[in-house]
Amino acid sequence: MTKIKIAPSFLSADFSKAGEEVTKITANGADLLHLDVMDGSFVKNISFGPKFIKEIRPYSNIVFDAHLMIVNPWNYIPQFVDAGADIITVHYEACGDRLKETLKQIKDLGVKCGAVINPNTEVKQIESVIDDCDMLLLMSVYPGFGGQKFIPDVLPKIEQARKLIEKTGKDIDLEIDGGINKENVKLVKDAGANVIVAGSTVFNEVDRAKIIRELREI
Ligand code: DX5
Ligand code: ZN
Repeated sequence: MTKIKIAPSFLSADFSKAGEEVTKITANGADLLHLDVMDGSFVKNISFGPKFIKEIRPYSNIVFDAHLMIVNPWNYIPQFVDAGADIITVHYEACGDRLKETLKQIKDLGVKCGAVINPNTEVKQIESVIDDCDMLLLMSVYPGFGGQKFIPDVLPKIEQARKLIEKTGKDIDLEIDGGINKENVKLVKDAGANVIVAGSTVFNEVDRAKIIRELREI
């Protein structure tokens, strides 16, 4: 089994102490920092953009995992690369038939790339681009907000995506995002996810090192 990695979602952090939060969550044992970029158009919420990411970048060497919930992502990818993203994921629902070329755009700029699908999108929609991806991201909530309830219908999709990844013979990560907690983390791991995003579950905890360890080990 691939190594389990924990990716706290920065959306639930205290933005008034953003730099400090990045340094602390790294020291607490996070493997990646999940950065939710929302434009108020693709989703009904606005979070932060490349300038914010660039300004928190010096606070840690942790892998910056930028999840772009924006329309026309191809217009902004160079800015996110410049800001210091290590991996950029883009939604099938935002890219449509431009998904493959958008993934290539990201790779050509020297960072890792991934495709994301919403809870109501079938895995088959991204099947043809799996080979182009370093990571697949399956949403287990409808994107837009932290703190929502996990949608269990995603579990068979995790199994399906893991099988397709195995068929490629490549080391492609399978990330799950939305509503993950101590109660359901084992379910998503058993289904085949190896990168676990957790926002409210991690940032609402006083002892964040402990919850990160628990999410990894349960
Ligand atoms: C939802 C975001 C998630 C979210 C996760 O639009 O993509 O990354 O912040 O937060 P929790 O873990 O609280 O559901
Ligand atoms: Zn996310």
